[in-house]
Amino acid sequence: MTNKTDRIIIFDTTLRDGEQCPGATLNIDEKLVIAKQLARLGVDVIEAGFAFASPGDFEAVKKIAQIVGTENGPVVCSLARAIKADIEAAAEALKPAVNARIHTFISTSDIHLEYQLRKSRAEVLAIAQEMVAYAKSFMTDVEFSPMDAARTDPEFLYQVLEAVIAAGATTVNIPDTVGYTTPSEFGAIIKGIIENVPNIDQAIISVHGHNDLGLAVANFLEAVKNGARQLECTINGIGERAGNASLEELVMALHVRRQYFNPYLGRPEESQESLTNIDTRQIYKTSRLVSNLTGMLVQPNKAIVGANAFAHESGIHQDGVLKNKLTYEIMDAQLIGLTDNQIVLGKHSGRNAFRTRLKELGFELSDTELNKAFVRFKEVADKKKEISDWDLEAIVNDEIQQAPDLFRVELVQVSCGSNARPTATVTLRTPEGEELTDAAIGTGPVDAVYKAINRVVNVPNELIEFSVQSVTAGIDAIGEVTIRLRYESKVFSGHAANTDIIVASAQAYVNALNRLYSSLQSQKKPEEVSAQKV
Ligand code: KIV
Ligand code: ZN
Repeated sequence: MTNKTDRIIIFDTTLRDGEQCPGATLNIDEKLVIAKQLARLGVDVIEAGFAFASPGDFEAVKKIAQIVGTENGPVVCSLARAIKADIEAAAEALKPAVNARIHTFISTSDIHLEYQLRKSRAEVLAIAQEMVAYAKSFMTDVEFSPMDAARTDPEFLYQVLEAVIAAGATTVNIPDTVGYTTPSEFGAIIKGIIENVPNIDQAIISVHGHNDLGLAVANFLEAVKNGARQLECTINGIGERAGNASLEELVMALHVRRQYFNPYLGRPEESQESLTNIDTRQIYKTSRLVSNLTGMLVQPNKAIVGANAFAHESGIHQDGVLKNKLTYEIMDAQLIGLTDNQIVLGKHSGRNAFRTRLKELGFELSDTELNKAFVRFKEVADKKKEISDWDLEAIVNDEIQQAPDLFRVELVQVSCGSNARPTATVTLRTPEGEELTDAAIGTGPVDAVYKAINRVVNVPNELIEFSVQSVTAGIDAIGEVTIRLRYESKVFSGHAANTDIIVASAQAYVNALNRLYSSLQSQKKPEEVSAQKV
C-alpha cells in the first residue's frame, strides 16, 4: 500500500476504544451484533478488541473474525501492546479472518517514557521495531501506533516511524491520546511526518484522537488536508473519557463538504464521488444500536444523530424550510437513514409483512429472533394501532439485545397517584427457575418497582442514571428506558422498550442487574459457580 490512496479509510474502534468507557461493556453476542452492523455500514476496518486483555476479549475478536471477517467483509483488527504475548494472542484470535490486521503500540512521548514505561528512547525505538517485525511474521497487514504521538518530540517520532515502516508496518497511526492538540497543530504534525520520514510513502498515515477539548473531529479533518488517509473513530463518538472522534460527524463532514475536501485528495473539486466507503443511510440505525446496547445515550443536540439534529423549532427557520429546505438544512435527514416515520404495520399485519418490512429496514434475523420479535410486535400492536419504522426498530433492538437471561420479569404491578403511597409488587423468575414475589413502597412508582426488584435479587447497587425517551410522538408511543447502575467500581447498563414505561423501567433494571449478576458469577471460582447451580 502507498500513502497515495485517494479515498479515506474508515477504521472503526467502537468495539475497542469505544468499549473502554465506563458502563459500555458489551458481551460477545452484543459485540457481534454491532460488528455485523458496522460491516453493513461499510467501515473498512473493525478494531474488534484487545485479544490479550481477557478471555472474553479474545473470544469476541475470534468470533468477529470468523463471522464478519469474510472475503468481502472488513479487515478485522486486534490491538496488542508491543509485547510478544499480546501479539501472539492477537494473531491467534484473528486466524479465522480473511483480512486481518495486528495493531501494536508503545508510548513515545517523554512523559510516558519517564513515568509510565521507565524506558529510554533507544529502548522504545528498539522494542517498536522488533515487535512490528514480530507481528509481521504472522500477517502482512500491521499497524503501529506511537502512543501520545501528539506530545512526542517530532524528531523522535520521525525516527520511530521510519524504523517501524522499515520493519514492515503498513499503517502508521498518529494518536492524540490525551486530546490536547489543536487542528492547525495536528495538521502540522502530519505535514512534518510526510516531509521528514523518508519511507512514509510505503505506509498509510492514520489518525486517532480523543475529544477532551471537543476538537477531535476538527483535528482529523485538518489531518486529512495534510495527508492522513485513515481515520480511527467510533459510533456516537463513545470512548475513553470525553470519547473518540465521532464516525458519523467525520463521514458526513467529508460527504456534505466533499467539494471542499476533493482537491486535498487529488480529485477534481466538482467530483460527486464519495470520499469514504460508508453507506450513510445506515448511520442512524448504527447509532441507535450502539446507544441501546452500550447504554450510552446520545445527547439531543449531538451533530448528525441527536434527536434535535434535524428539528427546526424557531418560527423563522420553519418558515424558511417550508419554502425551501436548503434555507436552513445542509443535508437531508434521509441521507443518514432517517425515514419519515412511515406508518407501515398494524395489528392485522402478518408474519410475512413483518419479516418483509424488517428486511427492507436492513434487519437480518434468525428464525428464533424473528419469532421472538413477532410475538413482541403483536403485543405492541394490540396496544398501539399504528406501528412505525421507528417502533419496529425499537422492538427488534429490544428483542435481539443479548443481555444474559438470568432473572426474568414475570409481573409488575404498581399503585400510585396524588393521594397514594407509590407501591409496587413484582414477580421475578430466578436463574434457578423459581418464581419470587416481593413488594415495596417508594418515592414514586419506578422507585417502588426498583426497591421491590432489589428485595428479590439482593445485590447491592447504586442507580446512577435513569432515562426515558419516547420512540415516536403520540400518547401511545413506545417508551425506551436506559439505566446505568454502579456496583463497586463497575458500571452496568440496561435498556428496554415498551408502551408501558413502568414495565420498560423494570425490564431495563433487570437487564442491567443480569449483567451485574453474570459478571459476579464469572468472577467466582468454577467450583463456587457450579455449587450454586446445583
Ligand atoms: O488513544 C490512544 O493512544 C490509543 C492507542 C492504543 C492507539 O487508543
Ligand atoms: Zn484511544
